[in-house]
Amino acid sequence: MLTTKQKVLRRFWYAVMPLSDLADGPKPYRLLDEDIVLFLGPDGSPAALRDRCCHRTAKLSRGWCKDGQIVCGYHGWTYDAAGKLVHVPQFPVQQEVPNLSTPAYYCRARYGYAWVALDEPLAPIFDVPEDSDPSFRYVPQFYEVWNTSALRMMENSFDNAHFAFVHQGTFGQADQPLPDKYEITETDYGFEAETLITVVNPPIQHRISGTDAATTTRHMRNKWYMPFCRRLDIEYPSGLRHIIFNCATPIDDSHIQLVQWLYRNDTEEDCPAQLLNDWDYKITREDKDIIESTDYDTPVDVARRTEANMVSDRPGMIMRKRLMKLLEDHGEAEVYRAA
Ligand code: FES
Ligand code: CO
Repeated sequence: MLTTKQKVLRRFWYAVMPLSDLADGPKPYRLLDEDIVLFLGPDGSPAALRDRCCHRTAKLSRGWCKDGQIVCGYHGWTYDAAGKLVHVPQFPVQQEVPNLSTPAYYCRARYGYAWVALDEPLAPIFDVPEDSDPSFRYVPQFYEVWNTSALRMMENSFDNAHFAFVHQGTFGQADQPLPDKYEITETDYGFEAETLITVVNPPIQHRISGTDAATTTRHMRNKWYMPFCRRLDIEYPSGLRHIIFNCATPIDDSHIQLVQWLYRNDTEEDCPAQLLNDWDYKITREDKDIIESTDYDTPVDVARRTEANMVSDRPGMIMRKRLMKLLEDHGEAEVYRAA
């Protein structure tokens, strides 16, 4: 499935940029192959417009912000947060500004990021109760580009059979290739996947897991939010929670933005954020290296399927089934790369 060719995917919210990146002016972003510009509007909330001036097509992201509006860096034409042209510096005061605008997208701030939907969203951004729960702290983790497709990344995140191989260097048990099975419950937004997994707890990890034991059995209550976000909710035996959110924001068909943040019900003294990020970075690197070696065009349609499957691929197969249903419900056929 080629993400940029499936129109319905424009109707979902994607985490595109840390809000802090917008503090010093407009920034360009490419979402589903569309060039957008992000900036902070007059009330400090983010806005997203097509990155193109309606005068001579310059990229607005090359300009700057003034009073919550964006000024084109070429001749100074100025747009408001809704994309409406509000000022043409070359016009005499009495001359009316033409009724022009550059397309605006749906944009809002949530969980420390600017989120964008290119067309009218089908559902609100998913809720994260821990975000407003004072017993949890918030840790931004990674914001980086991966050379893969969003579906590849998502299905990997529910694939327990790769731990013993890909993660031998961190938490995987090389002699335990048989993966723990998820109990999956489909929901309107995607699915919930629950399991108990027993994995290695290296000494370096004792502050992260809250125990010195050689292995730990973790209660996982994960969620898949269609199309490309995951909640990884780990509960250690001590009751300590490590809740990772991953968004595989599709830049184009073969690149994603990995946006990852974390909630923990402990303190910086218990386990410094740097230690958490160093550990999770190491694991994430293992995933990135192998996923980037796969073909980015994930075949979804059963008739076209060129991949073999095993039991542990079930979460990924449900994702594929649900995405096909989504396309069907919106009158679309799967678009794929020519062989
Ligand atoms: Fe933007 Fe001329 S191209 S003001
Ligand atoms: Co992995």
